[in-house]
Amino acid sequence: MSVLSLVFFFSLLTLSLSQPPPPPLKGFFIDCGATEESTIDGKVWLPDAAFVSGGTPKNLTTPVLDILSTVRSFPLQNNLRKKFCYAVPVYRGAKYLVRTTYFYGGINERDSPPVFDQIIDGTLWRMVNTTEDYANGMPTYFEGVFVAQGKFMSLCIAANTYTDSDPFITALEFLIVEKSLYNSTDFGKYGLGLVARHAFGFSGPIIRYPDDHFDRFWLPFGGNYSTPAGNRNISVSSFWNLPPSKIFETDLKVQPMELNWPPLSLPNSTYYIALYFADDRNWSSRVFDVSINTVSYYRELNVTPAGASVFATRWPLSGATKITLTPAVGSNIGPLINAGEVFEVLTLEGKTTTRDVIALEKVKDSLKNPPLVWNGDPCLPRQYSWTGISCSKGPQIRVITLNLTNMGLSGSLSPSIANMTALTSIFLGNNNLTGPIPDLSSLKMLEMLHLENNQFSGEIPSSLGAIDGLRELFVQNNNLTGLVPSILKKPGLNLKTSPGNNFSSLPPS
Ligand SMILES: *[C@@H]1O[C@H](CO)[C@@H](O)[C@H](O)[C@H]1NC(C)=O
Ligand SMILES: *[C@@H]1O[C@H](CO)[C@@H](O)[C@H](O)[C@H]1NC(C)=O
Ligand SMILES: *[C@@H]1O[C@H](CO)[C@@H](O)[C@H](O)[C@H]1NC(C)=O
Ligand SMILES: *[C@@H]1O[C@H](CO)[C@@H](O)[C@H](O)[C@H]1NC(C)=O
Ligand SMILES: *[C@@H]1O[C@H](CO)[C@@H](O)[C@H](O)[C@H]1NC(C)=O
Ligand SMILES: *[C@@H]1O[C@H](CO)[C@@H](O)[C@H](O)[C@H]1NC(C)=O
Ligand SMILES: *[C@@H]1O[C@H](CO)[C@@H](O)[C@H](O)[C@H]1NC(C)=O
Ligand SMILES: *[C@@H]1O[C@H](CO)[C@@H](O)[C@H](O)[C@H]1NC(C)=O
Ligand SMILES: *[C@@H]1O[C@H](CO)[C@@H](O)[C@H](O)[C@H]1NC(C)=O
Ligand SMILES: *[C@@H]1O[C@H](CO)[C@@H](O)[C@H](O)[C@H]1NC(C)=O
Ligand SMILES: *[C@@H]1O[C@H](CO)[C@@H](O)[C@H](O)[C@H]1NC(C)=O
Ligand SMILES: *[C@@H]1O[C@H](CO)[C@@H](O)[C@H](O)[C@H]1NC(C)=O
Repeated sequence: MSVLSLVFFFSLLTLSLSQPPPPPLKGFFIDCGATEESTIDGKVWLPDAAFVSGGTPKNLTTPVLDILSTVRSFPLQNNLRKKFCYAVPVYRGAKYLVRTTYFYGGINERDSPPVFDQIIDGTLWRMVNTTEDYANGMPTYFEGVFVAQGKFMSLCIAANTYTDSDPFITALEFLIVEKSLYNSTDFGKYGLGLVARHAFGFSGPIIRYPDDHFDRFWLPFGGNYSTPAGNRNISVSSFWNLPPSKIFETDLKVQPMELNWPPLSLPNSTYYIALYFADDRNWSSRVFDVSINTVSYYRELNVTPAGASVFATRWPLSGATKITLTPAVGSNIGPLINAGEVFEVLTLEGKTTTRDVIALEKVKDSLKNPPLVWNGDPCLPRQYSWTGISCSKGPQIRVITLNLTNMGLSGSLSPSIANMTALTSIFLGNNNLTGPIPDLSSLKMLEMLHLENNQFSGEIPSSLGAIDGLRELFVQNNNLTGLVPSILKKPGLNLKTSPGNNFSSLPPS
């Protein structure tokens, strides 16, 4: 096994037990498909129309509670693999817990819900398969932790090869969390996708806000083996991950301590693991070794009432996982564990160069009917790039071709297209574009420019002659006037200007 990056942290500070009231939750709570605002358990849920273009709001036919009663559904459209995105305003650099909720409710008139993908910014986050939960009458949640790289974060839904009916989403939450949470992760390169979060030895309802200040969900696990809470005198605090103190009220104590946890088979990947411990008595020596599968994870962990947490930032796991706690030699008492979290470490795919994104947004704005699926990151994930564009590979992701031939587009061509300096070809033929041809002389890589069969007016900009590599320039069947610049009549440039324009035959005086 390769050398692992391990970080350990012990909480040594002990603060007073008198807790201030929990801070209010900060962020956006979006009730997909809803038409009105609602307040549930202190969260103000907003209707989703302001955050998304495309899709249709639908009411579930079976009566269900609150936010689960509506969804937004997106057209499968012959399974064109296109994404539909929510754009949520965020604070650049802030850390967000993102939670998506899905509850099918039979909206597609099929028994079984569709399987599809969810995408965060330019990264494929997870395949959404709600089949089993839905069969059990349960909604499905996904939770991830990501740092905002810009002023908006996008969450997209997209059909994949398994999708057999319209994908949908029920709710979307973007919650700001403390900077210190999971901060051994380099959030510029990675995101975390939750696999499991459990309170061990706990059998009550899910622990969440206000116990957890960021409304993380701590599920009960192994309640049958728990030790009764009793007179605990635990005063943990100052864990970087800020777990709720309620998880330390119960624990698991079995010997030998072998936990098959997380309780599912994991895909081969790297994982962030955090385990939380606090002793419930202060006169013992509770020291043990922690191993994951057969690999030693931490030796001679000394657990006290002040608590300890150990975490691994990037640990490879695959299939079933077993956590083993073995008493150290000389320890007079067995091990215990209070809680654990496992996240898959998602490698972020990056994002399209901002300059190109801004320019494309302006091109989109100047079209009267841009392709509906032009939202989210233009290039990424690669299998879900925008209709009609192709992009470069490598660390700088640029748009290199634009082909919107015969898309029924009207409106004008924004001069901002001149900022997409990596473009090698522009195909806009057979549309109804009007207005002037912008100055494109900054597109030094441009080889092909097809504007034929539109209604462009004005003159052909002579600055096109400054693009050395231009090989094809087609502008026939527009409403162009003036003179065809003589600089364009050069060898190596295939120039097509007629029929269908109204050029002057004489040079102007
Ligand atoms: C869903 O139900 C609400 C209230 O009952 C109603 O206002 C809304 O028009 C319905 N939406 C659809 C898409 O049927
Ligand atoms: C979705 O989950 C169901 C139930 O667990 C399973 O039978 C099915 O194969 C899954 N679909 C995909 C595409 O993974
Ligand atoms: C994580 O946050 C804690 C508390 O703010 C801080 O002491 C620690 O240095 C941070 N660690 C990293 C790796 O940034
Ligand atoms: C826990 O106990 C309950 C009732 O005693 C039982 O129904 C359940 O199957 C047990 N669960 C496990 C995981 O042993
Ligand atoms: C809990 O422990 C603290 C010191 O750690 C002590 O001051 C306090 O009296 C104890 N409380 C109980 C109920 O044992
Ligand atoms: C997991 O993937 C890594 C890298 O792709 C590979 O080296 C390793 O053998 C895989 N492990 C298992 C158990 O499949
Ligand atoms: C342990 O806790 C008791 C009260 O529960 C307290 O009186 C005693 O001082 C504590 N001992 C240590 C070593 O902190
Ligand atoms: C541009 O798109 C049209 C329509 O989708 C297609 O027929 C054509 O081959 C494409 N041209 C290029 C150069 O990719
Ligand atoms: C342009 O618009 C007219 C009507 O406004 C329509 O008849 C024609 O089909 C459109 N042409 C293209 C190529 O979309
Ligand atoms: C091109 O981008 C620059 C900033 O990089 C901006 O100032 C300028 O207005 C843009 N040009 C157009 C035509 O949008
Ligand atoms: C373009 O020219 C055609 C005929 O020459 C005319 O019908 C049309 O109105 C013109 N369109 C624009 C936008 O100038
Ligand atoms: C072409 O231009 C000339 C002079 O600029 C104008 O008289 C004529 O009407 C135009 N023809 C068409 C078809 O627009």
